[in-house]
Amino acid sequence: MANLRFLEACRRQPVDATPVWFMRQAGRYMAEYRALREEHSLLEICRTPELAAEVTLQPIRRIEVDAAILFSDLLLPLEPMGLPFDFVKGEGPQLERPIGSPADIDRLRTFEPRAALAPVLDAIKLVQRELAGRVPLIGFVGAPFTLASYAIEGGHSSNFARTKALMYGHPEAWHRLSERLAAAAAEYLVAQIEAGVDAVQIFDSWVGVLSQADYREFALPHTRRIFDAVGRRVPTIHFGTGTAVILGELREAGGDVIGVDWRIPIDVAWERIGLDRGVQGNLDPTVLLGPTERMFSQVDDILARVGGRPGHVFNLGHGILPMTPVEHVQMLAQYVHSASRRAR
Ligand code: CP3
Repeated sequence: MANLRFLEACRRQPVDATPVWFMRQAGRYMAEYRALREEHSLLEICRTPELAAEVTLQPIRRIEVDAAILFSDLLLPLEPMGLPFDFVKGEGPQLERPIGSPADIDRLRTFEPRAALAPVLDAIKLVQRELAGRVPLIGFVGAPFTLASYAIEGGHSSNFARTKALMYGHPEAWHRLSERLAAAAAEYLVAQIEAGVDAVQIFDSWVGVLSQADYREFALPHTRRIFDAVGRRVPTIHFGTGTAVILGELREAGGDVIGVDWRIPIDVAWERIGLDRGVQGNLDPTVLLGPTERMFSQVDDILARVGGRPGHVFNLGHGILPMTPVEHVQMLAQYVHSASRRAR
């Protein structure tokens, strides 16, 4: 591999410059992605290995990132479980028949990811052939809580009321659902590793809506099963937003590297996580809208707080926003490299 910075940082080894990649580094802020979306739906891209591979590589050609992330979507495993969905323009994902009762959970199907999600695994092989070791490739799955929230709400939610109502009202059904989702996610992630990804990230994007006690009771044991299934095969990243008060619990669930959002200073977060793990983050994605002086000074602040300690992967606290100027993303990646090299 020509560029080992990202994998070294995941293992908390010293690096020549801080590695950087961005959640949603492929997507609507790029003209070449928008052009492809004129011709194909999001699900078509995800289910066509050549298209998914092409979109995965788009940011690698233009931006100085130290890792590629497979272009796919968190929700793909829901369909073979018996929860079909589509992406509706301007509204995001919509499930045809969201889970409404414990009986719906017992109707869910198990599936073999090597068959049901074969196009994703083929995309991984294509990307690895094209990358030829230039940068590592990250695979991913959704954590049980975040997947369950889509399965129950049927789409995006602001208060997760249905999700919590099922969790509190039918705890045994909640745990059955979470076990199903964890088992599916674990098998799918192992299949991605067999297909060739070099690291994996588990997204628990919305878990920050839980209290510490609820996280411990309703989410932690299920997420831990996914990390246990991966074991030490490849470096693992555990990501969520709004998690400042549950960082210790996220660490307990698993992850060599814990993702942190912008609501908490990265050094405070790292202390809470423990210095024997890596940390990923944590620039506010809206800072990329400009002015760039503020973007650069925020990078300086993050790097100063990290203070050169091995184990930092630079990223945003959440995904790149569609209205972000591509030039700002390019400048940001370059700046992280040059500023962190200077500081060494
Ligand atoms: O990061 C990357 O570059 C890899 C690609 C990626 C996508 N989805 C493509 C996508 C990844 C890692 C995901 C994960 C994902 N999907 C998450 C977890 C990450 C996060 O943002 O917290 C979630 C919650 C989903 C579910 C999902 N997919 C939603 C809620 C939406 C609609 C929101 C939106 O931004 O419109 C999607 C659609 C989606 N998935 C897009 C992309 C690039 C939007 C682009 C399009 O419509 O063309």
